[in-house]
This record gives sequence, structure tokens and C-alpha cells, in this order.
Amino acid sequence: MSHDAKKNPNMIDQDDITVLIDEARIAARVEELANRIESDLGPLEGEITLVPIMTGSMLFVSDLIRRLKLPLRIAPVTVQSYPGTATTSRGAHLQTPIPEVLRDSHVVLVDDILDSGGTLSMLRRLVEAVEPRSIRACVLLDKQVERSHEVGCEYAGFEIADEFVVGYGLDHDGLYRNLPFIGTLQGLDDD
Ligand code: IMP
Ligand code: MG
Repeated sequence: MSHDAKKNPNMIDQDDITVLIDEARIAARVEELANRIESDLGPLEGEITLVPIMTGSMLFVSDLIRRLKLPLRIAPVTVQSYPGTATTSRGAHLQTPIPEVLRDSHVVLVDDILDSGGTLSMLRRLVEAVEPRSIRACVLLDKQVERSHEVGCEYAGFEIADEFVVGYGLDHDGLYRNLPFIGTLQGLDDD
């Protein structure tokens, strides 16, 4: 029996996934984003706090911060908008408090993907309320959709079409976050 003929049911089936952005392109773009953030924030006075929006941004933020040579703090928040197998946003819900440390800090919100805009617009509003020195947002992916929430985003890695993607932190029903690349899944129903 050939190696391919018998698939291990315990492994992610790579045939179900089409690579959209590979590891090398992600790494190169993360480096560019880090350089831009560094040159914008480096000259500023005051503390810098990155706010990763969990769970999707965990791989992105871990690569990004390793390329930033600025003194910075990390204050994650958790937002859920795509419960279970949903592939369209059900509205963003903040599941953790806004960290106190953001007051008086230069804040950079970091997310995996900008889609409807619900997550970033909610967080920008809530963070502004605690009076940071400044607030910026950085996403790896900018989905080309008509946003239901208009929101500014200072740094974006890649523009992608309106399709559901997984990998490099992004999930479907909690799975695929550990893929090192961004890909699309075959056979997904819009729900
Ligand atoms: P928004 O609130 O609609 O802008 O969506 C942002 C959040 O939805 C992101 O933080 C992701 O967690 C999730 N999301 C949006 N599009 C996708 C996708 O294509 N794959 C996986 N998660 C997504
Ligand atoms: Mg998210």
C-alpha cells in the first residue's frame, strides 16, 4: 500500500485545504509591519501596549513582537464573534475586561483579520473610553467586504477576497489554528 493510499485520520487532511498565503510571504510581511510600527511608535514618549485580540491573533502577535525592538507590554483581550462552526460574524462580544494599563499608553490593537469591522470598532470605542495616549490597529488580513461597521485600521498585512480562511491562528470551529500558513477550506457551507 502506498503512503498516500492510507491517510492517518488523526492528522489534518491537507487535501481539504488550499494554501492562500504561505509561511514565507507571511514572515516577510510581518517583518514589514513590524518595521512600520517601530518607526511610527519608536519616537513617541510614553509606554507602548500591544493588545492581542484572542484567540485568533496569537500566532501573528507572537511573530510580530519578536520583530519589535521597542519596550512594550502585552495586554490581551478575548472577543468572540464566530461561535462554533459559524462562518459569518454573529456580533462581537468582549469576554474579558479592558486592561487598566491601557490608560496613558500608546495602544496597538492586534487582530488576525478585519471582516465586518464589529470587533475592531467595538474595541476602539471601549479602549478610547479609558483614555490611552493614542490608539492604532494592526491586522494581518483585510477581507474585502462591505463592512457593517466602518472602522479605521492603520496597519494591514494582506488584502484577501471575501472567503473564509483558516490557519496561522484563524480557526473553524476551534480547529486549524496551528497551520503555519493561511488557507481556504473546501466544502464549507455559509452559515
Ligand atoms: P469582524 O468583527 O467581523 O471584523 O471579524 C473579526 C473576527 O472574526 C476575527 O477576529 C476572526 O476571529 C473572525 N473571522 C473573520 N473572518 C474570519 C475567517 O475568514 N476565518 C476565521 N475567522 C474569521
Ligand atoms: Mg478574532
